[in-house]
Amino acid sequence: AIDISRLRGATGLITLDDGYANTGSCRSAITFIDGERGILRYRGVPIEDLAARSSFIETAELLIFGQLPDDEERAEFRSLLTENSWLHRDMRKHFDAFPKNAHPMSILSAMISALQSHDLPEHHFTDAMGFREAAANLIAKTRTIAAASYKSHIGQPIVYPRYDLPYAENFLHMMFTQPYRDYETTPEVAHALNMFLVLHADHEQNCSTSTVRMVASGGANMYASVSAGVNALWGPLHGGANMAVIEMLEQIRDGSLSAQQYIDRVKDKKSGAKLMGFGHRVYRNFDPRATILKSAADSMLDSMHITDPLLDIAREVEQAALADDYFASRRLYPNVDFYSGIILRAIGIPMDMFTVMFAIGRTPGWIAQWKEVTDNPGQRIYRPRQVYVGEPQREWKAREDR
Ligand code: ACO
Repeated sequence: AIDISRLRGATGLITLDDGYANTGSCRSAITFIDGERGILRYRGVPIEDLAARSSFIETAELLIFGQLPDDEERAEFRSLLTENSWLHRDMRKHFDAFPKNAHPMSILSAMISALQSHDLPEHHFTDAMGFREAAANLIAKTRTIAAASYKSHIGQPIVYPRYDLPYAENFLHMMFTQPYRDYETTPEVAHALNMFLVLHADHEQNCSTSTVRMVASGGANMYASVSAGVNALWGPLHGGANMAVIEMLEQIRDGSLSAQQYIDRVKDKKSGAKLMGFGHRVYRNFDPRATILKSAADSMLDSMHITDPLLDIAREVEQAALADDYFASRRLYPNVDFYSGIILRAIGIPMDMFTVMFAIGRTPGWIAQWKEVTDNPGQRIYRPRQVYVGEPQREWKAREDR
């Protein structure tokens, strides 16, 4: 006799939920979001506290290992990061093979995938210490690859990481040190970058994280799964939105449009334009990350004595949108990407690196989610169903009869 309970999903009804708007794909203990109330917590810790008080690496340890680290754990993880920040000499050859105009996201995903071949053997992940090192390796290397891809894009020599600099400062060093010109960051810039990374570190089952979990559910290794996540992040409706927001603000500036004129264009659905950096599947209220980034952008530009006309345009667009019934009735508010580009511009990050910056920030979240899937003894392979809408059955015809 067939035991129906063993045929979960193989018989019976299929629920169709376009875009998985109401379908939970897993149980997770990593990140909590209450979209109605605008709450975000990593492992139970409010995002506001982490953004104000924690370093990106401490946040990464919280996400991946479940606890804020004590002094000993911090020191041990830091030395793992330092030891793992160099690229294998052969990895550097890959950079030369990319065309000069290659998008940094394509380089990043390819290089993370290649890390599996150059770096740690897969059996290394299985014990706890091996996993700690693999996690540190991927977090450290993602940053080194990102900076190196920028350097090779602009035709400058790759800058080596320094053992004495914290994570964010080390990235800025590798990005902006030039031949015969050292780069010194300021506390404001380092703080802003650190906060940007903390705010991007995880966000439960978004498009890229679900991709990582999907790939992991088939048993793929951490590098392969995270590389898939980088590709999923690339699109303008997801991580690519931080670039698209700046392009939109530039379009408003260059076309001498008023904020209201742009809003009217967006409301005319035939235009195909969207208000980039607005709207979210889960937040039907303010995205708490956007609130933090907005006030950070204000104070950062103030303290650095920078005036960015795009920030003024962004404020006008936000006000016009919030006062407009189109956005209010659909509960569309600014998301994390609306102000993050302004901060990245102020730091000096070129626009085609914006989505790579998001990927550096999201790497700890992807690692934590990969580990949660991999550690689950009852994990089933992700395998959604479909409702078939094609031809029921057709006759095969010989080529001369087609
Ligand atoms: N501008 C104009 N209209 C919008 C926007 C927007 N940014 N976002 C949603 N809408 C409209 C939709 O057209 C739809 O209108 P309708 O009811 O008349 O058909 C309604 O609001 C509901 O939107 P959905 O498309 O159902 O929202 P969904 O949850 O599927 O998409 C998404 C969410 C992709 C974030 C969407 O709001 C969007 O495209 N925003 C702009 C891109 C962006 O900022 N992405 C970053 C998201 S955050 C992140 O990934 C890091």
